[in-house]
Amino acid sequence: MERTLVLIKPDGVCKALVGKVLQEIEGQGFKIVALKMIRLEEKKAKEFYHPHKGKHFFPGLIKFMLAAPSIALVVEGKGVVKKIRKIIGERIPEEAAPETIRGQYASDGRRNIIHGSDSPISAEREIECLFHPEEIYSYKKKDWLESEPG
Ligand code: PPS
Repeated sequence: MERTLVLIKPDGVCKALVGKVLQEIEGQGFKIVALKMIRLEEKKAKEFYHPHKGKHFFPGLIKFMLAAPSIALVVEGKGVVKKIRKIIGERIPEEAAPETIRGQYASDGRRNIIHGSDSPISAEREIECLFHPEEIYSYKKKDWLESEPG
């Protein structure tokens, strides 16, 4: 099953938007298979954003990502990479559709609440960067029905 890496960035955590973002993701029927709060260190942030190394915004992006904790998630579902990117919206809030997460909550092109992998290949790299395999769970949505009380 396809997976994506979602990161609720420091501004999303500080602005108490974690619940809203999770609701949005779960509301679309996707399955959360891993979730944790992390405080990115410089080395890890640089590894995560490695494809953007050398771009003019790289230092500012790294500094921002170290400012407070983030919430990292692995989300699973058919077509999840593209669909999550759609829910997230364009990078710059003025260009993001009003119903998207960034359209509603982003402050600007850097402080834009949330990251979602841009392809299944990026997702694989990003998941490996932030999660150990044993932190990712495998379950079916009906699994809870199996446990009888008592
Ligand atoms: S690019 O240049 O098209 O590859 O950049 P893009 O994919 O749009 O964004 C890469 C990540 O950097 C964050 N960021 C910025 N991008 C562009 N310009 C500025 N000023 C900037 N500041 C921060 C942007 O939000 C992307 O991060 P993620 O976490 O993937 O959203």
